[in-house]
Amino acid sequence: MSHDWYRDAVFYEVFVRAFADSNGDGIGDLPGLTSKLDYLRWLGVDAIWMLPICPSPLRDDGYDVSDYFDVHPDYGALADVRRLIEEAHQRGLRIIVELIPNHTSDQNAWFQASRDPSHPQHERYRDWYVWSDTDQKYADTRIIFLDYEPSNWTRDALRGQYYWHRFFHHQPDLNYDNPEVQRAMLRVVQFWMDLGVDGFRVDATPYLYEREGTSCENLPETHAYLKRLRKFVDAYAPGTMLLSEANQWPEDVRPYFGDGDEFHMNFHFPLMPRLFMALARADRTPLVQILARTPPLPDGCQWATFLRCHDELTLEMVTDEERQFLWDFYAPQPRMRLNLGIRRRLAPLLDNDRARLELANSLLFTLPGAPVIYYGDEIGMGDNIWLDDRDGVRTPMQWDSGPNAGFSAAAPDNLYAPVIEDSTYGPQQVNVANQQAAPGSLLHTMRRMIGVRKQHSAFGRGNFAWVEADSKAVAAYLRSHDGERLLIVNNLSPHPQSVTLTASGLPSAALLDLLTGEYLPSSQQGQLALALHPYQYLWLKIQDTLGYGLHG
Ligand code: NOJ
Repeated sequence: MSHDWYRDAVFYEVFVRAFADSNGDGIGDLPGLTSKLDYLRWLGVDAIWMLPICPSPLRDDGYDVSDYFDVHPDYGALADVRRLIEEAHQRGLRIIVELIPNHTSDQNAWFQASRDPSHPQHERYRDWYVWSDTDQKYADTRIIFLDYEPSNWTRDALRGQYYWHRFFHHQPDLNYDNPEVQRAMLRVVQFWMDLGVDGFRVDATPYLYEREGTSCENLPETHAYLKRLRKFVDAYAPGTMLLSEANQWPEDVRPYFGDGDEFHMNFHFPLMPRLFMALARADRTPLVQILARTPPLPDGCQWATFLRCHDELTLEMVTDEERQFLWDFYAPQPRMRLNLGIRRRLAPLLDNDRARLELANSLLFTLPGAPVIYYGDEIGMGDNIWLDDRDGVRTPMQWDSGPNAGFSAAAPDNLYAPVIEDSTYGPQQVNVANQQAAPGSLLHTMRRMIGVRKQHSAFGRGNFAWVEADSKAVAAYLRSHDGERLLIVNNLSPHPQSVTLTASGLPSAALLDLLTGEYLPSSQQGQLALALHPYQYLWLKIQDTLGYGLHG
């Protein structure tokens, strides 16, 4: 298999707690996930990204790590990780785990030793975190969890000093100026590479270092350490993929790829809200603008793209007016909003409108980047805005219409979170079993899109060029690679569109609809007139039999 497999891959993001409970304790676990690998292989995804599985007090669902070298007992044991990886590899699936380098839980033994002057290990750990006598340092740094935290500093009574934290106050930031910390995190990476993981999703990469007078984000010192991490990974377990979570503008994310010597992948955060903006306004302009602002990547690198994930739909990478518009449009009730974002799942965001759901996924699967599907979105699961924080988008996976949606044999009261219960999105309506049995279901459409995407390397590797369309509601583009040319057409509007596409070299040859297997009537040289249904999308292969070159 190719060393840069991730460029063509479709990723599937799983919250282990939510996916499948093997032992009836009401909590999803690693053996449960392992038991669902055949489903994921059937769906056609290539790599499974698991949310944190290490021991943790779970005040941030595992992004508050108390021990980097073990598994949370709720999820199983290290042997279960080994078995998951083995079983996944047997099925050609890859396993990506979380690396959370920026902060730990305040329950981590490192922090306990650091905060307590009477701790026997205090000397060793004293400078592992960012301590200060005042809470006035780094005042130019924004607060991320605006709805929960008034400051990036919290006072620790035992130590009598403040500690720095970019997220929750129970998540103290590690001090990367300390060479011991730098080495410790490499040991963590080594431990998980020894277990055989295929890659890491690296949490909160911009924030490793702090410097006075800066935003404390994207600092040169941070990039230097991340390059060191990459070097270590390349030397120790070549082929291990590193995916960075830097919620920043494209020009600020670009350095996280380095010269191909930092991360293999980065999430494209600014693209995501613009997909929703383009849909809401039936206008491709936000997509055109953000792709124009997206720099080319070094060889061997790839964007990770997504519609939804386990967090709120973040609106940090839009203007204030755009944010207000998106809030008003997609999150009319206050409970739907969180921090600078929206805590809703894909299907409710798009009014459970099948055509819009498909169109959104068409964009995800055909624009540049490797798509990441959030568990449950392949069947159009709903959310529960009445749960706290981001819990409402992390409810149990709906496998069937039986008790607890087939997620767990526990008594309903013992589930880690309630199954979605409403007449539209409850398991009676939305579940895997029903959709597997119904060839016309969203699940089957998703599977087909994934399957088609995987047959054409132009999706993962191809050049991208806009095709002129005389309606702004139509997003049409060419993806070309190795002599293959794909013409993708998306109608962003709820209304039919008669549109003429113009691209020098649009051949007068046949166009094969990859999703239906049917041919479209041939076009006139250079132009293609289409009558599109509301939200219609077409993935067309240009059968360039006449040998015309195509230069979008
Ligand atoms: C980003 C993660 O996606 C989010 O869930 C978490 O709360 C923060 N990082 C802090 O680790």
